[in-house]
Amino acid sequence: MSRRIAILGGTGPAGMGLALRWARAGEAVVIGSRSAERAQEAAAKIRERAGAGANIKGDTNAVACAASDLVVMTVPFEGQAAFLKELKASFQPNAILVDATVPLAASVGGRATRTLGVWQGSAAQQAAELVPKGVRVVAAFHNASAELMNGDEPVECDVLVCSDDPEATKVVVELAAKIPGIRGIDAGRLENARIIEEITALLIGLNIRHKGHSGIRITGLPANAYRPL
Ligand SMILES: NC(=O)c1ccc[n+]([C@@H]2O[C@H](COP(=O)([O-])OP(=O)(O)OC[C@H]3O[C@@H](n4cnc5c(N)ncnc54)[C@H](OP(=O)(O)O)[C@@H]3O)[C@@H](O)[C@H]2O)c1
Repeated sequence: MSRRIAILGGTGPAGMGLALRWARAGEAVVIGSRSAERAQEAAAKIRERAGAGANIKGDTNAVACAASDLVVMTVPFEGQAAFLKELKASFQPNAILVDATVPLAASVGGRATRTLGVWQGSAAQQAAELVPKGVRVVAAFHNASAELMNGDEPVECDVLVCSDDPEATKVVVELAAKIPGIRGIDAGRLENARIIEEITALLIGLNIRHKGHSGIRITGLPANAYRPL
């Protein structure tokens, strides 16, 4: 079945990196933005780098969301709740919403090396509370460096994927594995998003301390826990 991945808030570094990698992998992508013009400019930049054959376009977040049953959200935590409330009517029934939001304290003027407490447990669980019934929220890509994702080299890290819907988890694990160097790993229920989101704050601290672009690798699991094998 052909599909188009919608990346909402896709004009920032996190969304652009995912769009670039998936466009290169042959996926059809639509970048979403609050401004259709900004989204189209971002899509043109990706096309320049991924090649003229890249299947990528840009539109408003609402149009992009309505056109896809596989939606990725890369907006800052401070905008996440209002954003989802505004888009509520745009989701397809049973859509998958991939949430990469990290509730960094920087959102409220604090440090990027600390996270905020979210009443629901995590940004992803907050998202799950705000989407229409039937939309399946999957937390993923929090620990992948946008800097590396926007480069040309393989991204050497694992992407932990969690949700309360095993079928949706499987789709996103496979999607992660389309990025060279990345392995997607089923990390269990959506409540684990709290831990995965917090790892990002630690990685940012490591990046500052050691001047790098850190990621994580999980070791010791049987080969079939990793995609690709
Ligand atoms: N950067 C990373 O390395 C990285 C890695 C993993 C996860 N993440 C997470 O991914 C998300 C995006 O990160 P980023 O660095 O790409 O962020 P960003 O550049 O600050 O924001 C991404 C896009 O979101 C839109 N946006 C900004 N404020 C908004 C608001 N209040 N309401 C609706 N849309 C808004 C903007 O697009 P328009 O103005 O075009 O609408 C912006 O280009 C964050 O939650 C972050 O924690 C980031």
